[in-house]
Amino acid sequence: MDEVLVREPGKIIVFGEHFVVHGSRALSLAINSFVNIHVAVDDAISITLMTNDKKIFDLTDQRENSISKYIYTLISSLSLPPVNLKIEVGFPISAGLGSSASIASGIARALYTLKFNRAPDKDEVYRMADRLERDIHGNPSGIDLNTILEGGIILYDGASRKVVEKFYRDDIPFVITDTGDRRITGRLVGSVADMKRRVGEIFGLLVRTADSISQLGFKLLRRGDLEGLGRLMMINQGLLYAIGVSNSKIDYLIYKSLDMGAYGAKLTGAGGGGCIISLCDEGVAGDIADEFNKMGYPSFIVHPYSGGHIADR
Ligand code: PMV
Repeated sequence: MDEVLVREPGKIIVFGEHFVVHGSRALSLAINSFVNIHVAVDDAISITLMTNDKKIFDLTDQRENSISKYIYTLISSLSLPPVNLKIEVGFPISAGLGSSASIASGIARALYTLKFNRAPDKDEVYRMADRLERDIHGNPSGIDLNTILEGGIILYDGASRKVVEKFYRDDIPFVITDTGDRRITGRLVGSVADMKRRVGEIFGLLVRTADSISQLGFKLLRRGDLEGLGRLMMINQGLLYAIGVSNSKIDYLIYKSLDMGAYGAKLTGAGGGGCIISLCDEGVAGDIADEFNKMGYPSFIVHPYSGGHIADR
């Protein structure tokens, strides 16, 4: 029986989320936390999704579900036989860590490899996966897909929709903490567009500030200046607060993280819930994660990831 196993990283946005949709640059990185996709030719189509808290969802007959629709469309456009497809997500979904982009990319890579006996190139994956991203997010900036397809640490330009700079170091720890609240990215992106209409040129100033933060952040990260990065994260969080995508639980967890020794912390991704990221020394990352876990906010430590996607046949 033909089968393929694929692994896609998640991502965090360190600077510039939301503003990137309006043309700023943003800094993001792939993380060493993964979505695994297993696909095998079978007698009938079956699709299951397992989340990081081990809940299993049967999506086979959920034709209205965006992921199922995407899979059925790809199977038909690639003229593939029926497959058994298992998606296992190793990090919180709908929480700012790019699960939909990782799932979209992993499914495209796995089905393409099954069909053509070779792994697709980046552009081929992007073209296929962008379909699901648009279905879920409406008008994505493209940062999520570009981050996981590039790997490493990227400076992404929302205006040209291109990766403008890239480097890799894996020695910087981020603690990811889940607020437990789920939200819909498209809705938050819509609320920010509404804010833009209301405050006009002030919004433009915020976009320009986010752009400068992302550029400086990229330099500081390359240099490993954690203290400087921490300060920038707090300034960026102030901008996210200003456009209405933070909330009291996010703010509470951020201050808690600073009290425990983080250099800086902020929401990551669309906000409104989801996850926060804390930047700290390797030595205190475990303590911060342990304390948040004890408080009932699932936490784990990640590092930048630049490895491959391991598409096996
Ligand atoms: O929350 P996520 O992982 O969907 O991240 C979205 C990032 C945004 O900047 C809010 C939207 C986008 O398309 O760039």
